[in-house]
Amino acid sequence: MNRQKIVAGNWKMNTSLKEAGALVEGIITGSKNKNAVKKIFFPPFTFLKAVTDELINTDHFFTGAQNCSEHEKGAYTGEISVGMIKSVGAKYVLVGHSERRIYFNETSAQLKNKIEQVLKNELTPIFCFGEKLEERKSGKHFETVKTQLNEVLKDFDKNKIANFILAYEPVWAIGTGETATPHQAQEMHAFVRKCIGEMFDETIASQICILYGGSCNAQNAKELFACADVDGGLIGGASLKADDFCKIVESF
Ligand code: PGA
Repeated sequence: MNRQKIVAGNWKMNTSLKEAGALVEGIITGSKNKNAVKKIFFPPFTFLKAVTDELINTDHFFTGAQNCSEHEKGAYTGEISVGMIKSVGAKYVLVGHSERRIYFNETSAQLKNKIEQVLKNELTPIFCFGEKLEERKSGKHFETVKTQLNEVLKDFDKNKIANFILAYEPVWAIGTGETATPHQAQEMHAFVRKCIGEMFDETIASQICILYGGSCNAQNAKELFACADVDGGLIGGASLKADDFCKIVESF
């Protein structure tokens, strides 16, 4: 088993160019020698190249896009293709974040198309999924997650799946300050691994990286990252403060 440890910062629609630069600088200077942890920034598109350029000559820092078009190119005003993302040096693309699903009505079919674009360009998708509060309350969280995984992932070549990164992000925990308990996170991550084992095979299930996201912060990261099936975090709010992000990276 050689799963990577990853801390990814999803900046969402935050920061100016100047603030983005200062944040990256703060994190680079504040990072202790934690080379084993891969750090990925997801800045707004407008600063993706600037942030990527700031990381030249650093080790274990990467960038990714928060979203991408499901199309390759053409008359899609306002959209950003994976080819464009690749051309500025970013390596990862978030696909299926709940804010995209909820506010922009992204469907499983679209998410599949987006992942196809990501793979065509040889970048890595970080596929996000997770249940809503009412689904958890009614005990449907496992079923919901299984459906989300099945609908989007099942037709991909299993050799490609091994390199995907998954991110379990319960919607009720995102930006709410309410985090999944380590027990809830571990239970769902183990279930996700079981689903991947059934859809593909056991080796892939044991190798795939599964991140937890949803109000993960400098205080709770340690106990979440200590869970056997949690390989790191996808961090929103706490990734906007250099000190907090560095503390989260040190939580393994
Ligand atoms: P949060 O966001 O850490 O602010 O809850 C996580 C995410 O949306 O990826």
